[in-house]
Amino acid sequence: MPRDLCRAEEAVVFKDVSFSYSNGFTLMDVSFTIRSGELALIMGPNGSGKTTVLKLMAGMLKPLSGDIYLCGIDTRRIKLSEAARYVGYVPQNPWMAFFNNTVFNEITYVARNTGLSKEEYEARALEVSSWLNIAHLLQRSPYSLSEGEARRVSIAAAIIHDPSVVLLDEPTAGLDYLNKIDYVNIVQKLVLRRGHTVIMSSHDVDLLTLFPEAKVILLNNGRLSFNGYIRDLLSRAHLLLSNNLLLPAPIALSTYLNELLGVGEGSGASVEELVERTVLRKDVIGELICR
Ligand SMILES: Nc1ncnc2c1ncn2[C@@H]1O[C@H](COP(=O)(O)OP(=O)(O)O)[C@@H](O)[C@H]1O
Ligand SMILES: [Mg+2]
Repeated sequence: MPRDLCRAEEAVVFKDVSFSYSNGFTLMDVSFTIRSGELALIMGPNGSGKTTVLKLMAGMLKPLSGDIYLCGIDTRRIKLSEAARYVGYVPQNPWMAFFNNTVFNEITYVARNTGLSKEEYEARALEVSSWLNIAHLLQRSPYSLSEGEARRVSIAAAIIHDPSVVLLDEPTAGLDYLNKIDYVNIVQKLVLRRGHTVIMSSHDVDLLTLFPEAKVILLNNGRLSFNGYIRDLLSRAHLLLSNNLLLPAPIALSTYLNELLGVGEGSGASVEELVERTVLRKDVIGELICR
């Protein structure tokens, strides 16, 4: 189980947080909380501020105004190396973050720099690498790995020191469906078996149906558009469309059938009728999918 450093009930708290880059992008008055042991999705279109929010959580950026608490600690008051004991950050592109000659050196880097002894980090490297099924890769160059292997190595590097909170930046970007399901299984085990608080950023709306219990924070252009649970978001599906996100395929289909074709429970429409009406209204489906 993760080291019991995070005693706070709330793993992450944002209180009226604002932040700006010099190019003009501003995160404005963002407030939300993520409970310890919870799975959360930070969703929004490209450029909405998701990575910025993850970096603020990890203490890599500091807020201009407002407060951020990581495991109850004000991130302004701790150095990055101290914050790294509480949080593991998995970057969007694993290749950009690799800089060691072997997978073993890559996954033990943070552990070696957060004060673990050699015996301890070697034992942990064996534990996480067998857990993530990458023990056979430890002496390989990280640059020789497949996409799926590289992502597992990135996770191993982020969790080796047993942080309470694991941040995954766009974890499913560019993965095919089978690799996505494989990743979803890893994330579920991180939360359920290892007890981490897992926070993912993504614009991939499939995650909403793959993690139906997750907390969702929806961002658009640096502003908070929704803060709640998936069931409430899906019952207000227009929020996804108005925030430049697609509807998840099952929701798009049921919305289409229920609202546009008038096919609801008890309507008695046959499959043939549905097909016929669907074909007739494919312009509408196209519009839904393209929006
Ligand atoms: N280091 C940086 N310096 C200046 N602008 C940045 C930097 N990082 C991100 N931005 C800008 O901030 C905005 C939000 O970026 P980001 O948080 O990466 O969004 P997302 O992860 O949702 O795609 C974008 O307009 C991006 O160009
Ligand atoms: Mg990003």
